[in-house]
Amino acid sequence: MMARKILIVCLGNICRSPTAEVVLRDKARAAGIDLVVDSAGTGDWHVGEPPHPPMVRAALRAGYDLSGVRARQISAGDFGRFDLILAADEENLADVEALRPAGDTTPLSLFAPYAGNGLRAIPDPYFTDDFDGALALVERAADGLIAQLQ
Ligand code: 4NP
Repeated sequence: MMARKILIVCLGNICRSPTAEVVLRDKARAAGIDLVVDSAGTGDWHVGEPPHPPMVRAALRAGYDLSGVRARQISAGDFGRFDLILAADEENLADVEALRPAGDTTPLSLFAPYAGNGLRAIPDPYFTDDFDGALALVERAADGLIAQLQ
């Protein structure tokens, strides 16, 4: 797989996708893989905000620094700027697909299946309160994706 610029998308861009952005970037660097990773949300409620504090704390306990991320909303223009777009759940996937410009062929799929544990989506910790569980699934999916990139 030649994907070298990856965009991860969730709903608010303050929990799942900023976590995935930093975890994937850190793991790629540790693996010696040259990867550009960004994240965005399908919604605009939190644009400009840092990630959700309990998500930041859960990530920090595991050694990931989310403090530099600011939420942004995905736009159609993102399709031309990434080699691969990964969605946190099925709703995000459908919402991103709806933004695809005519003729664009950028691969778009779910992120969680890279974990290889049968899960299709990352349950949204903004609603479940399971920030550690979301982080653990993100880490496992990132490991699976890195393995494919190697
Ligand atoms: P995320 O979680 O999609 O993982 O960033 C959410 C954060 C905020 C909202 C929804 C989901 N919200 O509705 O404000």
